[in-house]
Amino acid sequence: MKGVILAGGLGSRLRPLTLVTNKHLLPVYDKPMIYYPIEAMVNAGIREILIVTGGEHAGDFLKLLKNGNQLGLKHLEYAYQEGEGGIAEALKLAEDFADGQKICVILGDNIIEGNLKKAAGDFFTQTTGAKILLKEVPDPERFGVAEMSGNRVTGIIEKPKDPPSNLAVTGIYFYDNDVFDICQTLKPSDRGELEITDVNNHYLERGDLTHEVLEGWWTDAGTFESLYRATRYVAEGGANHKDLTTLAPPLFSANA
Ligand code: G1P
Repeated sequence: MKGVILAGGLGSRLRPLTLVTNKHLLPVYDKPMIYYPIEAMVNAGIREILIVTGGEHAGDFLKLLKNGNQLGLKHLEYAYQEGEGGIAEALKLAEDFADGQKICVILGDNIIEGNLKKAAGDFFTQTTGAKILLKEVPDPERFGVAEMSGNRVTGIIEKPKDPPSNLAVTGIYFYDNDVFDICQTLKPSDRGELEITDVNNHYLERGDLTHEVLEGWWTDAGTFESLYRATRYVAEGGANHKDLTTLAPPLFSANA
């Protein structure tokens, strides 16, 4: 299985820091943000990675990561996304790289405590379709949210005002090669983007979407509040993650 890390976007919610480099190269405690999804993939045995990026600071990735050998990668490729077409638009650029294989996709600002070994192994034996990873969060309205019936996902709603559960769809996805055909059928959402949630709902509608609930803490890091939370999670480590989760709501505003 190959890995795709989506690390584009303007990082407008992290200005002025993102005026001088890409969001995914900012520090999360003692490492650049992009190291975390790369390490998550390497730990799951995925060592061929494509980074999709864009914007003015794309060259900074090469300065930092070079050919990726120092991080345990066997092969590192880069793709450049023109404009701001959304996550599923960025994913289209991975079709040649995937070359018919299954892929693991991680949004470059997603950071996890645990590892993806089990999920990757389970998906390896899943013959077709997709797998999403869910995580309980105190502020589901910020994310794609799973609608559940028992242990079954019945729908995914992107940033719902009235969330049907507290299970966020994390930015960690596993797809078979059909994902590229599905991306071609998508229509832009109200915010003018091709949404990854539409891709996942497509798999769900044809009965080919599995899910697992991620163990350990998970956070994104695309706002000052979530970047701070990510830094604390990493700095204070696994043992304290429950306390940190409890602390999150009073410290951070709902739309953080
Ligand atoms: C994106 C996805 C959302 C997902 C989130 C995870 O949101 O659209 O479904 O829950 O990543 O980080 P964004 O961060 O682009 O607002």
